[in-house]
Amino acid sequence: MLERSNLIVVRDAEALAERVARHTLDAGAHALALRGRFDVALAGGSTPKAAYELLASPRFRGELDWSRVRFFFGDERCVPPDDDQSNFKMARTTLLDPLGIAPTAIFRMRGEGEPRAAAAAYADVLRAQLELDDAGAPVFDLVMLGMGPDGHTASLFPGTDPLEDDDLLVRAPYVEKFTTFRLTLTPKTIDAAREIAIATAGDTKTDALAAVLDGPFDPKRYPVQIVRPRNGTLTWLVDDVAAAKLRSRDS
Ligand code: 6PG
Repeated sequence: MLERSNLIVVRDAEALAERVARHTLDAGAHALALRGRFDVALAGGSTPKAAYELLASPRFRGELDWSRVRFFFGDERCVPPDDDQSNFKMARTTLLDPLGIAPTAIFRMRGEGEPRAAAAAYADVLRAQLELDDAGAPVFDLVMLGMGPDGHTASLFPGTDPLEDDDLLVRAPYVEKFTTFRLTLTPKTIDAAREIAIATAGDTKTDALAAVLDGPFDPKRYPVQIVRPRNGTLTWLVDDVAAAKLRSRDS
């Protein structure tokens, strides 16, 4: 069974986006108070998108000193930055542009490059920009993640190997089901974070969430199970529908 530090269940997808936005602001305030800077790795997907829109909205945007936030990415599709599939484009249009974030505070994965070279280049960026832990992994203040119905997270898909004992910081896995490469942080990098938040909602996630949280540890089948922060905390943020088959929601 997956160890988990925190499970937060909210009413629906709308409430979830709000909770994710609030969680991000809290993590940001904490990091700014302790270190004067907030380094966050953004996720792709529908829940983050709704949360980014909220963060940039008049209601929330005044709650954080965005000039001290640096934005990185947890994964990227192998497309140019202006492609509709690009996670960077999604974050730029929903969050970064509306907040007027300086280009120098945005560190994107180069999805338009040769995948392996782009992964290696991003690893260099992370090493140069972030504090490194004892294992040589860059330490984010917050890594935001989603989970797919197949149990994937970031671009760690079932069948992409190796999920464990991977010494690279960023990989370029070939994803059979999409017949394409992706760029993704590896478990080594994700698990070095001070805080990891996994947000997921909807009935397509119900079975996977029960298997991931209540089933046996099998990260080759459910890659999101590999998310186990070495020194930080993990928070699952889910909606009522996704949580419907969890055996115990309070532990
Ligand atoms: C991506 C993501 C991916 C995503 C999940 C969940 O680029 O697609 O980073 O890992 O978080 O697929 O996506 P939804 O929230 O849209 O279900």
